[in-house]
Amino acid sequence: MARFEFIGAILYLFFHSLTFLNGADILFPNQTISTAQTLISQNQVFELGFFSPGSSQNKFLGIWYKKTPDVVVWVANRNNPITYSQKLLLSLTINGTLNIISETTIIWSSNSSLLLGSNPVLHLLDTGNLVIKDINNVTNQSSFIWHSFDYPGDTRLPGMKLTINPDSGLTSWKTANDPSVGDFSYKIENQGLPEMVVSHGKGKRWRSGTWNGLYLSGGPWFLDPIFRPEMIFDGYKLISVSDTYNASLLQRLKLDESGFLQRYTMSEKNNNWNLVYTKPRDPCDNYAHCGPYGICRIERAPICECLSGFEPKFRQDWDLQDWSGGCDRIRPLNCLNGDGFLEVKGVKFPDMLEFLVNMSMSLYECEAECLSNCSCTAYANAYITNGGSGCLMWFGSLVDTRELPGADSRQNLYIRLPVSELELRTDLKEKNNKRRPRKLILILTGCGVLVIVLISCGMVIRRRLGRKERKDEDLELPLFKLATIVAATNNFTAENVIGEGGFGPVYRGNLSGEEEIAVKRLSRTSGQGLEEFKNEVILIAKLQHRNLVRLLGCCIEGEERMLIYEYLENKSLDYFVYDGNRTTMLMWPKRFDIIMGIARGLLYLHHDSRLKVIHRDLKTSNILLDTDLNPKISDFGLARIFGSDQTIARTKRVVGTYGYMAPEYAVDGKFSVKSDVFSFGVVLLEIVSGKKNRDFDHSEHYHNLLGHAWLLWKENRVLDLVDERLNDSFVESQVKRCIQVALLCVQKFAENRPVMSSVIFMLGTDGAILPEPMEPGFFVERSSSANRGRRMSTSKDSEQTTITITDLEPR
Ligand SMILES: *[C@@H]1O[C@H](CO)[C@@H](O)[C@H](O)[C@H]1NC(C)=O
Ligand SMILES: *[C@@H]1O[C@H](CO)[C@@H](O)[C@H](O)[C@H]1NC(C)=O
Ligand SMILES: *[C@@H]1O[C@H](CO)[C@@H](O)[C@H](O)[C@H]1NC(C)=O
Ligand SMILES: *[C@@H]1O[C@H](CO)[C@@H](O)[C@H](O)[C@H]1NC(C)=O
Ligand SMILES: *[C@@H]1O[C@H](CO)[C@@H](O)[C@H](O)[C@H]1NC(C)=O
Ligand SMILES: *[C@@H]1O[C@H](CO)[C@@H](O)[C@H](O)[C@H]1NC(C)=O
Ligand SMILES: *[C@@H]1O[C@H](CO)[C@@H](O)[C@H](O)[C@H]1NC(C)=O
Ligand SMILES: *[C@@H]1O[C@H](CO)[C@@H](O)[C@H](O)[C@H]1NC(C)=O
Repeated sequence: MARFEFIGAILYLFFHSLTFLNGADILFPNQTISTAQTLISQNQVFELGFFSPGSSQNKFLGIWYKKTPDVVVWVANRNNPITYSQKLLLSLTINGTLNIISETTIIWSSNSSLLLGSNPVLHLLDTGNLVIKDINNVTNQSSFIWHSFDYPGDTRLPGMKLTINPDSGLTSWKTANDPSVGDFSYKIENQGLPEMVVSHGKGKRWRSGTWNGLYLSGGPWFLDPIFRPEMIFDGYKLISVSDTYNASLLQRLKLDESGFLQRYTMSEKNNNWNLVYTKPRDPCDNYAHCGPYGICRIERAPICECLSGFEPKFRQDWDLQDWSGGCDRIRPLNCLNGDGFLEVKGVKFPDMLEFLVNMSMSLYECEAECLSNCSCTAYANAYITNGGSGCLMWFGSLVDTRELPGADSRQNLYIRLPVSELELRTDLKEKNNKRRPRKLILILTGCGVLVIVLISCGMVIRRRLGRKERKDEDLELPLFKLATIVAATNNFTAENVIGEGGFGPVYRGNLSGEEEIAVKRLSRTSGQGLEEFKNEVILIAKLQHRNLVRLLGCCIEGEERMLIYEYLENKSLDYFVYDGNRTTMLMWPKRFDIIMGIARGLLYLHHDSRLKVIHRDLKTSNILLDTDLNPKISDFGLARIFGSDQTIARTKRVVGTYGYMAPEYAVDGKFSVKSDVFSFGVVLLEIVSGKKNRDFDHSEHYHNLLGHAWLLWKENRVLDLVDERLNDSFVESQVKRCIQVALLCVQKFAENRPVMSSVIFMLGTDGAILPEPMEPGFFVERSSSANRGRRMSTSKDSEQTTITITDLEPR
């Protein structure tokens, strides 16, 4: 009988559905929405309707941006796909229940209801919130009968609160074609101090870092005025997190199918989504990447080390870069006869597996308390507020510790070690580093006076250390005399030329028979003033990274402008990669190290240095190798010197090399970190294949190396791309991952390319789930007629195809 009534209701709905005005923002109970109709919010921001994601045939009810319909932010029936879809309807009952009805079955229901006598309506708001409310009530969250913001999917929109309710939090889609609840979630965790956690099933994947009183300690990015989330606390518990709604800035936080948390904003001008950040961002962000008592430092190679006083538990695995086993104490603790603590600065605190928090204890009390309990392994201030406050103690393993460059100096961790170990460390430091002041090490021997003496000593030392650093800041870049350089290079003889770049020739030189240098003699086209040039060089000299060539100084006299670099023994990467005889020196493990090194150098230039530097001419011949074949990027910063009169986003003078340039840069002069990512992708493919993109030819097609890689990818035989001279010495999964990442880097549209931090993450993480690449951006080479209004000047040396395109249009 109930069924009969129901069919009656359907017929009733059908009869009245004609009155629904497609594109309105309100649905009344006497109306329905069919598959061809949508609700559109008042200012046309969001749209609600039935859709099929990607290549799926299934139908879902969802909300998406009107301007970018492929960006779906919420799905009602995500776990109830509609596989057959003759008569699909969305309707609101007079009792305030929203139902999706297919034929005679309710596929999905909001299960909401209100008291009799009121007039419910369904309203799609400009915030993206779908609400059921009384028509007479104002638009106010507390008066909603039901609203979609209470049921987050994979996207957090501004105004939407993630709460401690176990059902709250983001859950990823299964795949891009299947919105049902996937393996990943993003939730508030109040175990110990509050933090946000991305989980994979039951296991953790990424932790934001604990709340330190000001922000989530994993990174000051939480302080960004635009993206700083609003957090509500109940005592010391975090009960909700949300983003502030601002009508003039569209933004969203998405947990994607591979478990990456991604923050996007839309610029009003071009309706493009910009990826602001991704978490996890690098391998060190992977939960417990270095195992128990390990510490992850992204700037080092290898990135995992044991905490001081610890050694690898399984040495063999550790040396093979399987760090999951972690570390063990070198010497056991000696609880009764005295343990002490070693200070570790600027770290993301270890996970709180077993812990104790007491907000009313000072750091001293905390230390004493930790020392008095033999199972306490570390302590720290809980908050950084008031110069450090509260006490946090760990018991048992210290897991997921990572170094955070730029972390608050109050965020220090004190790790328990036996006194014998601490003394050893002190001795070692003094031997290795006589001139450098000793780091503050607290050894608690139970004698309070000694502690106080030590602490005040430490303060003096610290102050001195601070002064020294400040002095370094003023350090001027050495200015070389022209005469010195002339002598060193044998008056710039042709024999000493070791390369030719986009900005001028490079000479090898010898300073007073001792130190070897490389001299870059800049062509006189920079158009930059002398002071400006000097300032720029001084700035660039401060960029220091193991994967960047070191700038030693410069020479400015008359018209001459030269940059003096360290000389590198082993020439450049192209010298090895393409040459049949030398290539055997670069077997796969070395090639992979080189790839990672280049990626780290580029990441440093893009994100981690004080200047944001876009290289603009990354290519194999710009990667130099030192005696151990470590890669060092050269020519960085030159683009900055030559480009300072141009706007950041677009240049009239395109400096670069065909075969490596991203389409938008080569054609429109638009450059960004993403154009460097493109060049990196090309370099990566060249290293894997041992072939040049530009000179590539194949008997069966006319594509370049990128095109060839794409064809092989589509046919699922990418291993055919691998340099045959590698003789199967490679790890298949690693090579495949490299090729996939390379294809992602050379995507046609900049927004589809990953940023360098993601590249490093994807390359360095075994088993990472990578997005599927689409067709790469082909660049039509040398079609001179296509370059309207542009003059190309190619340098004499045809091997070095560096070009400059000068815009002839009047400025
Ligand atoms: C549907 O209901 C709304 C509000 O209750 C009313 O304004 C509208 O006239 C109704 N339409 C029809 C066709 O009954
Ligand atoms: C609304 O609720 C009343 C009382 O619970 C019930 O009798 C009626 O069937 C409901 N109507 C619909 C359309 O669900
Ligand atoms: C509504 O209730 C039904 C039956 O209890 C349940 O299966 C369904 O999951 C609920 N729907 C939602 C959206 O919670
Ligand atoms: C929403 O309604 C509640 C209760 O009616 C009221 O206390 C609150 O101030 C309202 N909030 C806004 C933003 O209007
Ligand atoms: C309007 O919302 C308030 C809650 O803020 C609720 O108490 C009241 O019943 C609502 N009015 C109607 C007519 O439903
Ligand atoms: C909203 O965003 C705009 C543009 O970013 C900004 O100028 C404005 O100050 C913001 N408004 C608020 C209330 O934050
Ligand atoms: C926190 O520390 C204070 C001072 O040592 C102590 O009095 C208090 O009992 C501690 N609180 C808890 C919950 O352990
Ligand atoms: C040490 O601390 C742990 C955790 O609070 C506690 O369970 C244990 O009883 C303490 N041991 C001693 C000897 O106080």
